Amino acid sequence: MRLIHCLNNISSQGTDLLSDAYGLSEDATTAEGILVRSAAMHDMEFGENLLAIARAGAGVNNIPLERCAQEGIVVFNTPGANANAVKELVLCALLLGSRGIIDGIAWCKDNAADENIAKSAEKAKKAFAGREIAGKRLGVIGLGAIGALVANAAIDLGMDVYGYDPYVSVGAAWRLNPAVHHACELTEIFAECDYITIHVPALPNTIGMINEDAINHMKDGVVFLNFSRDTLVDNNAMATGLSSGKVGAYITDFATPEIMRMEHAIVLPHLGASTEEAEDNCAMMAVRQMMAYLETGSITNSVNFPACQLGPVASGCARIAVLRANDPEVLGRAALVLQDQGCVIENSVDVTRKDTAYSVYDVADTAAADQAAAALSDWDGIYKVRVIR
Ligand SMILES: NC(=O)c1ccc[n+]([C@@H]2O[C@H](COP(=O)([O-])OP(=O)(O)OC[C@H]3O[C@@H](n4cnc5c(N)ncnc54)[C@H](O)[C@@H]3O)[C@@H](O)[C@H]2O)c1
Repeated sequence: MRLIHCLNNISSQGTDLLSDAYGLSEDATTAEGILVRSAAMHDMEFGENLLAIARAGAGVNNIPLERCAQEGIVVFNTPGANANAVKELVLCALLLGSRGIIDGIAWCKDNAADENIAKSAEKAKKAFAGREIAGKRLGVIGLGAIGALVANAAIDLGMDVYGYDPYVSVGAAWRLNPAVHHACELTEIFAECDYITIHVPALPNTIGMINEDAINHMKDGVVFLNFSRDTLVDNNAMATGLSSGKVGAYITDFATPEIMRMEHAIVLPHLGASTEEAEDNCAMMAVRQMMAYLETGSITNSVNFPACQLGPVASGCARIAVLRANDPEVLGRAALVLQDQGCVIENSVDVTRKDTAYSVYDVADTAAADQAAAALSDWDGIYKVRVIR
């Protein structure tokens, strides 16, 4: 039986997918797989049996990726599994930025004891009047899992949508509604859009990208939404934009002391992915990816090894799966070892990703496969070898 350890509470929608060949173990040191959400793993010693860590979520800064690679442990995450949850909150934010919803609710609470509240409300409501989003222009910066869903949903709500993403993946581009206008420059988004929402990762070239210059190029009264990372926006520039009225509202999912001090900022406590469904989706995706790797060697959404789609091992064959350094010499030596051990290779795949690589050989002689795997295990640059039947 394959043992799986859950370092955090993982939605049962995920763990229920584990077949009878698996058991949940309280002991991380004997497990072949670890499921984790946010538990810190940097100081953890990993057991010899450990083959995979699956993070139910996107961020992996709680996991020592490089050490895992060197120990032949494949780390998975679940990109996009929470995209719908974030998209829905962004739609909510568009409305919060357009109508006096928050002030209106506050007014109702403040006047809860008024027996004539219905009549007073008719008078008070003009202070909370807003505008409709239909027909307005929305700029979406970053058209990945979340940005593409937001763009498509905004089209359905009658908005005129401009999308900017110079690195958009083919898959994401296919998912985009063709009505999304392709902006080739960020300045086009800034100049044209009444609402702008940003959905890019925090990287050296995106941190602070919404700075004074960017804000100066935006339309007066623009509503800016940030449900990605607080560091994408320069706080001083945004605070100045808000107090001058250049930015009509800043709606964000990141409650930092600087943002809390900004006028006209609507701040949520990082609720983007906080839905039951997102947790279920992440758990199911994490478990499926881990099972596929343990059973066939297939790698989908790993953050430290290359992707590799493999079918089941053919009956009577053995699959030698080699996690290794991305070094042609190691690849050459592996091929020689297989040859020396008399392995007849029926099928092979070799994929690379930055410093790491993955070589898979399907061989007909299972005894030769075992011998080759044993001969390969101790070589420098070979992180883990296993034989899958
Ligand atoms: N608020 C939350 O709770 C929450 C939840 C999930 C994700 N997020 C954040 O949302 C971000 C986006 O998530 P996703 O799942 O859509 O990621 P993703 O990787 O699917 O998409 C990111 C997109 O940004 C694009 N991009 C990168 N650099 C760019 C640049 N300089 N200009 C324009 N586009 C650029 C990429 O090409 C990609 O298409 C994440 O990085 C994360 O920080 C927040």
